[in-house]
Amino acid sequence: MNIKAEIKERMEEVDRHLDRLLPKETEYPDIIFKAMRYSVFAGGKRLRPILVLETCKMLGGDVEEAMDYACALEMIHTYSLIHDDLPALDNDNFRRGRLTNHRAFGENIAILAGDALLSHAFEVMANAAVKKNSLRGMKAMQAIAHGAGVFGMVAGQVVDVINDGKKVDEATLDFIHKKKTAAMIEGAFLAGAHLGGADEGALEILQSAAEKIGLAFQIQDDILDVTGTMEELGKPIHSDERNEKNTYVSLYGIEASEAAVQRLSDEAVALLEQFGARSAFLVALTNTLIKRRK
Ligand code: IPE
Ligand code: IPE
Ligand code: MG
Ligand code: MG
Ligand code: MG
Repeated sequence: MNIKAEIKERMEEVDRHLDRLLPKETEYPDIIFKAMRYSVFAGGKRLRPILVLETCKMLGGDVEEAMDYACALEMIHTYSLIHDDLPALDNDNFRRGRLTNHRAFGENIAILAGDALLSHAFEVMANAAVKKNSLRGMKAMQAIAHGAGVFGMVAGQVVDVINDGKKVDEATLDFIHKKKTAAMIEGAFLAGAHLGGADEGALEILQSAAEKIGLAFQIQDDILDVTGTMEELGKPIHSDERNEKNTYVSLYGIEASEAAVQRLSDEAVALLEQFGARSAFLVALTNTLIKRRK
């Protein structure tokens, strides 16, 4: 399998559907639609929507039905990035290779663009669930809401920002990473799993794999903040140091962090392989994330 080409194909398909699902820039008040589209179409990796689609596909579900939920999750992820970059949070000037939303549109519109993407995502999912009268769809929406909200990403961001400049213990860093990043990855896997009609056993395995992939993903993000380049990442390096953030690298060093990424990814792959040959794409995707430079 040429995983790079396969991923690119999925990214393009997700982008086509995001374009369909987002309001056009010509509507009034156009500034908000421009701001939403500016950050969504700035070249993200589309990891979370691809995970929704591929998990659904692995379990034999209807990938077409999954597309709206996949795109909604990417809208929520993009909102989380816009707000993460605000002066009151990480205060970053570049994201996805361009000026951050508040730098391009001002803080007021950036905050509202985040709000708009979050709300629009739930409108898209509710529309999809109502149209098909789909319990699977409602469960997918539930999983995504849980991953994004105060039991997930928001909780992680809270504990992240209130500890800027203070040193946290291992358990607290683990909480931050699990919630701010792994929770949305779990939302992606579980949404795909529900849409694919997963049973309890499959849900449990996928949740565990997702948590490991999510943790590895954030540890790699912490590593790249130190060892990456702005050109590759599309966002500034040394942002964590500037904000005196608690990261895996600041607590354990680069070498231990790289070992953790490898170990967590290997464990995730072993879990995914329980689904047999149908897990090939997700296994290959997980393995590419270990070596990612962006
Ligand atoms: C960045 O996520 C925020 C983290 C959770 C580390 P991604 O690295 O997936 O960002 P995009 O979507 O590709 O821009
Ligand atoms: C943020 O983690 C994760 C989110 C929930 C947005 P980071 O603050 O490390 O993400 P980057 O490095 O800015 O993408
Ligand atoms: Mg942050
Ligand atoms: Mg940040
Ligand atoms: Mg980071």
